[in-house]
Amino acid sequence: MASKAKSRWADDKDDAALDAQLKKEKEEKKRLKTEKRLKAERARALEAEQQTQDAAAPVAAATDGAAPKLLRFDGGSFGRSRTIAHYDMLNGISQGSYGWVSRAKETATGEVVALKRLKIDPKDLGGVPVTALREIRVLKACDHRNVVKLKEVVVGDDTSKIETYGTDSTALSTPLRSPSLTPARPPSIFLVLEFVEHDLWSILHDMPQPFLASEVKTLLQQLASGVAYLHEHWIIHRDLKTSNLLLNNRGQLKIADFGMARVVGNPPPALTQHVVTLWYRAPELLLGEARYTAAVDLWSVGCVFGELLTHKPLLPGTNEVDQLTKTFELCGVPTDDSWPGFRRLPNARSMVLPPSTSTRSTTTTLIRAKFPLLTSAGAALLASLLSLDPARRPTASEMAGHEYFRQDPRPKREELFPTFPSKAGQERARPRETPEAPARGQQAPDLRGVDFSGIFQAREREENGAGFSLRMV
Ligand SMILES: Nc1ncnc2c1ncn2[C@@H]1O[C@H](COP(=O)(O)OP(=O)(O)OP(=O)(O)O)[C@@H](O)[C@H]1O
Ligand SMILES: [Mg+2]
Repeated sequence: MASKAKSRWADDKDDAALDAQLKKEKEEKKRLKTEKRLKAERARALEAEQQTQDAAAPVAAATDGAAPKLLRFDGGSFGRSRTIAHYDMLNGISQGSYGWVSRAKETATGEVVALKRLKIDPKDLGGVPVTALREIRVLKACDHRNVVKLKEVVVGDDTSKIETYGTDSTALSTPLRSPSLTPARPPSIFLVLEFVEHDLWSILHDMPQPFLASEVKTLLQQLASGVAYLHEHWIIHRDLKTSNLLLNNRGQLKIADFGMARVVGNPPPALTQHVVTLWYRAPELLLGEARYTAAVDLWSVGCVFGELLTHKPLLPGTNEVDQLTKTFELCGVPTDDSWPGFRRLPNARSMVLPPSTSTRSTTTTLIRAKFPLLTSAGAALLASLLSLDPARRPTASEMAGHEYFRQDPRPKREELFPTFPSKAGQERARPRETPEAPARGQQAPDLRGVDFSGIFQAREREENGAGFSLRMV
């Protein structure tokens, strides 16, 4: 049988080599493709991480470049809340702008707690107000020894045990709706908070002796620590004042009342300026700044500092114009040097200010004169907290590390802090003489064109003397 002729297409050595080369090239191409894909994936992941970090950048003026910390905000789930029937009313503590606070006892455990009933307008069919939701969300996420603890949120379907809670009988008599699709009034909502015996406003107005310098330092250091925690976690409190600062019988200060608090980003979003109780309101808010930062809280801390020293509110303005007048009297009028760019603020554009030469003294000198017993480190800290320019205020963590706290007298140890008879533990709700927090939904007043040119005339007359002026030689 004749052998079959070898096809000219048959494999030979060259073909095998060619095949091997083609295979190698194919593999190389595949490898390059995979590498390219992995590289693109890595780049995408890096970009996403960068975006998260950018978003998580610390609140402007609130942190000092430390890595941002994020709180876990519970996305929430549907479930039935416990009801107020688990608590027995003991006594009312206070009625504020956003709620009623009472002392109560958990029936099962005997634990004493504070119940804050959130005010919900029965006529408002829009559901739970956003301020109430914010307060719950922020308190639920916070865990710090200087921030009041939220134990749980309960609803008020059984009002029989809490008839004496409030004067607003409409809200109490609102029965808890069974879930239905018909729009109806929301139920009463109660925050169950750890019970804290005092608030600083009541102590300051009841105690016979002023706080010692070491006690003021203990309180301020704890306040700075609590505020630093909030700011590191992107929360601006927006209503720091002595009646929102609680003190327990172990000398621990707790920041309370998050009805005005906001979680913000960087850059801060446009926010309402109608926040912070008037006496503690920063000048940038009064001048209409919408993109304010956590520095508004540091201004309020400065006002609390002054109040702790004298037991009197530092800047008790009667209205917005009077508040600005009092602020300028204590801190001087803003100039392009002391507060670059302040003229761009809506209310500052056409505001008439006295010539800057009429404010002869600096904030520190004015503060030293007002607080003669304060050390120079203390006066420097207070003056920096009360900087008109928010960018010049220290952050809360800078404040906590300030030299003032390292100098003698050192902050008093908390356990050695004096105890006070608890009003919250004995009495029925007391009326307050403090100005209330701004009502929600209201617009900040328009202060454009206000004339402040005469605010230093009285001081000038005093400095110059009657009819003649003193010349220093
Ligand atoms: N956890 C608590 N333990 C004890 N007392 C408390 C507690 N929380 C609040 N209080 C008291 O109730 C008062 C009012 O509470 P809170 O500030 O939370 O309510 P509010 O209605 O928002 O008040 P406001 O509008 O006056 O600021 C406080 O000043 C304090 O005296
Ligand atoms: Mg309050």
